[in-house]
Amino acid sequence: MDDDFTKQPQAFINARMGIGTWAWGDRLFWGYGGEYNDEDLKKAFLVSVQGGINFFDTAEVYGQGKSELLLGRFIKEFGGEVKLASKFMPFPWRLSRRGLLRALKKSLKRLGVSQLDLYQIHMPIPPITVETWMDAMSEAYQAGLIKAIGVSNYSREQIQRAYETLAKQGVKLASTQVEYSLLNREIEQNGVKQLCDELGISIIAYSPLAQGLLTGKYSSDQPPHGIRGRQQTRNYLKQIQPLITEMRRIGADHAGKPPVQVALNWLISKGVVPIPGVKTEEQALQNLETLAWTLSAEEIKKLDALSDQITHSDNHS
Ligand SMILES: NC(=O)c1ccc[n+]([C@@H]2O[C@H](COP(=O)([O-])OP(=O)(O)OC[C@H]3O[C@@H](n4cnc5c(N)ncnc54)[C@H](OP(=O)(O)O)[C@@H]3O)[C@@H](O)[C@H]2O)c1
Repeated sequence: MDDDFTKQPQAFINARMGIGTWAWGDRLFWGYGGEYNDEDLKKAFLVSVQGGINFFDTAEVYGQGKSELLLGRFIKEFGGEVKLASKFMPFPWRLSRRGLLRALKKSLKRLGVSQLDLYQIHMPIPPITVETWMDAMSEAYQAGLIKAIGVSNYSREQIQRAYETLAKQGVKLASTQVEYSLLNREIEQNGVKQLCDELGISIIAYSPLAQGLLTGKYSSDQPPHGIRGRQQTRNYLKQIQPLITEMRRIGADHAGKPPVQVALNWLISKGVVPIPGVKTEEQALQNLETLAWTLSAEEIKKLDALSDQITHSDNHS
């Protein structure tokens, strides 16, 4: 068992924050090829690595492989070291451990590397059990194809089972990737955060900006384009305004920091690793500046209280 993971959960990625790349190549949900293109993404990648963020999260399904391909191309052109996480989708027609190894090898090829820093099961989908996928992960780990094993969207009970299956083979479950933000605090209530903190499993927070809603640039009159701008979101945008106003006020007290940095710093204060998605150099630059400052205990308390009012209301989307 690698004790370092227990002592220092984030050690395997050596990052306080990463970058999410779902939007890299995804036309349908995020509008790739319209409002932003490969050149924008390359600049976002470069400004991130040059600014000291070198942990990237992707998945075989993002842009049907395009996200991995773009990331692979940018890494090759950059030539420096990055930490890479990808994910395996356990589609119901993938019925054996070999399916995972085949998919992993394809991901490695698209990314142009021989080993991943982290490989994650994207979500629990029947019929294959947690135990079978963990056995396959362990095989990939023993073969040197991956440096660490993670899960995503697993319940408390599924995380426990994954952890125990791997522990029997002397391997540590390194991380779980979950939705977590000022607008989604389910993991604080469903036992996932407590279990991971107890077992030293890193939590990687996805959609840390609530898919853009916490940036403060959207309102019910100016909702996001496409699928993100549906009526339910417009109503929700009205409801979250008091929180956004407070985020702006807190940011102003820190020499005019934008709401995105307040949202990301709040997650870092909870001991998790946020992976905000970025589409442009400007967004990447703004997000990485989060690491230059911290929130006070008083500010965290205030944000907790305002976020509680929203996340405990029946109306949230
Ligand atoms: N494991 C899973 O099941 C799962 C699920 C979802 C996501 N993820 C991972 O988590 C990552 C992040 O989540 P996410 O992409 O869903 O949402 P997010 O990080 O909450 O929001 C990202 C979006 O916010 C906007 N944005 C980001 N920085 C900004 C800035 N500085 N100023 C203004 N706008 C900014 C951009 O979109 P606009 O400019 O269009 O507003 C960006 O695409 C994904 O890329 C993926 O790697 C994993």
